[in-house]
Amino acid sequence: MQPPPGHVHATRFDRMLAPLHRWVWSCDQRRVQKLLRFGETETDGGRDILRAAEMTSDPLLRRLYLKHAIDEHRHGDMFRRRGADLFRTLTPGLKPAFQAEWLAPGGHGADDLEVQDESDNDLLAFLHLSERAAASRFSVYRDVLQHDEPTCAVFDEILHDEVFHMNYTLTQLTRVAPEQHRRHLWHARLSRLGKGYLRLATRLAGVLGTLLLTIQYFVLLPPFALLAKRAQRREQVGWHPVSPDRNGSLDRQY
Ligand SMILES: [Fe+2]
Ligand SMILES: [Fe+2]
Repeated sequence: MQPPPGHVHATRFDRMLAPLHRWVWSCDQRRVQKLLRFGETETDGGRDILRAAEMTSDPLLRRLYLKHAIDEHRHGDMFRRRGADLFRTLTPGLKPAFQAEWLAPGGHGADDLEVQDESDNDLLAFLHLSERAAASRFSVYRDVLQHDEPTCAVFDEILHDEVFHMNYTLTQLTRVAPEQHRRHLWHARLSRLGKGYLRLATRLAGVLGTLLLTIQYFVLLPPFALLAKRAQRREQVGWHPVSPDRNGSLDRQY
């Protein structure tokens, strides 16, 4: 059964992470950066869905995609406006805070998708899962932001739309692929899982690369630096005659 408009149950996983989300959103500066970043992601998502509206041959889907794109564009504006208002209250000259993007991601993941290459079925399945994940996270963000009423109100209003997006995409998927909508949902789930794994693996590779290079810098380079210093001490200072066997005319590059 679909939840009523404006209502969503956060997943157990998102609820479990609520203390971490509370910590992530507790820093004013990080909140500003995250709101501005969310603004960008929502607007980008809106652009992708606008593209989907251009591509579909289904008139009802086109109308729904258009409404969806307008919603996402408005969300982008709301996040940016709230981020800018909060920014004006910050002490000038603060350094950027750690973003914890992997802990409190925003957006809908539509950037994982080449909209023009997807069928309506696959796109609806993907959008449904993305909107559901976003609605679940946004409901936790709203709950942990009770101390910041204006930001909490922004999430609350946006959440209302996200629940609508989550519901209409499933209803339309069931309409356009009544027999196969479950298969499309599983396919989208696996695809999201695969992309999530790739993102995680890329980040892990980045962390491991940094770690290995740092170890190399502190463990492997010092002996070479010492050898170079010793060699430098053996060098004679100033001009001195070159030995005859090294003093031939230049007939090669090295
Ligand atoms: Fe949105
Ligand atoms: Fe949405």
